[in-house]
Amino acid sequence: MKKLVIIGSGVMGRGIAYVSALGGFHTFLIDIEEKQLENARRDIDAIFEKGVSRGKVTEEEARNASERLTYSKFLSENIKDADIVIEAVPEKIDIKKSIFEVMDQHAPLHCLFATNTSTMSPTEIASFTKRPDKVIAMHFFNPVHLMPLVEIVRGLETSDETAQAISLVAKQMGKETVTVNEFPGFVTSRISALVGNEAFYMLQEGVGTAEEIDKAIKLGLNYPMGPFELGDLVGLDTRYNNLKYLHEKLGEKYRPAPLLEQYVKAGRLGRKTGRGVYDYRNPVKS
Ligand SMILES: NC(=O)c1ccc[n+]([C@@H]2O[C@H](COP(=O)([O-])OP(=O)(O)OC[C@H]3O[C@@H](n4cnc5c(N)ncnc54)[C@H](O)[C@@H]3O)[C@@H](O)[C@H]2O)c1
Repeated sequence: MKKLVIIGSGVMGRGIAYVSALGGFHTFLIDIEEKQLENARRDIDAIFEKGVSRGKVTEEEARNASERLTYSKFLSENIKDADIVIEAVPEKIDIKKSIFEVMDQHAPLHCLFATNTSTMSPTEIASFTKRPDKVIAMHFFNPVHLMPLVEIVRGLETSDETAQAISLVAKQMGKETVTVNEFPGFVTSRISALVGNEAFYMLQEGVGTAEEIDKAIKLGLNYPMGPFELGDLVGLDTRYNNLKYLHEKLGEKYRPAPLLEQYVKAGRLGRKTGRGVYDYRNPVKS
């Protein structure tokens, strides 16, 4: 059984921990915030319960997977015998840099490093380590336990062995994979960020209400979720950080909508804070 450590227990880290434990990995979920770890444990337990009640996993599978999960605030001591580390901290290059430096210092030499970045260059992230051949992007989707894809993005120095091993890890977690070439935003975030940002420009221009814009996109274009519903699920801060990065790398068409920035500044980050474009604290949408 391989030891897999996930750093960051937010929206994504907790989902990755769930599929990792269910896939048979000895899974450690790390965060600097005690509260986040508590929330992660609560959410993961709820997914297990729902999975059992809907017949997606047996009680025994859920119990065994739960027993394979450890929650901790301590990074360096938990990665010293890790085989795979998946980083899921906020989409800010300085935070990722400091985490990868610590990972490189404490993880054994054979350990593979994956980043769950939505937009950033795995080549740049690999440059924060002395093992660029063992670094790759492993882009999961939200909610991780329901979304079938992992988009794998190789950096310039990523070895074939690393790419193959990570693809097997994703498959063991029950996921399909696509492996794409490195470019800011890969395939999925590049499209998703553009659609989500354009929706904010429309809202700002008064083209329609959030409900109307979401309804038009869902029923007219056959999207499973409206761009605001998705933005609130992703986290508006995460979406904003993605856009800032893509704006810097790919130019004007990714300039974050001022209204999106305003929501983030107001602390309306989406479902995770109880309020984003929509209000989740009340049964009626605002
Ligand atoms: N939210 C999405 O839908 C989504 C989808 C795909 C990829 N991503 C990417 O996944 C990554 C994480 O996004 P998220 O939405 O889960 O963010 P989030 O804000 O929900 O969670 C980030 C977590 O990292 C923790 N953290 C911060 N600094 C840390 C440190 N030094 N050590 C340990 N933990 C630390 C925070 O306490 C928080 O719990 C980002 O790179 C994002 O772009 C997000």
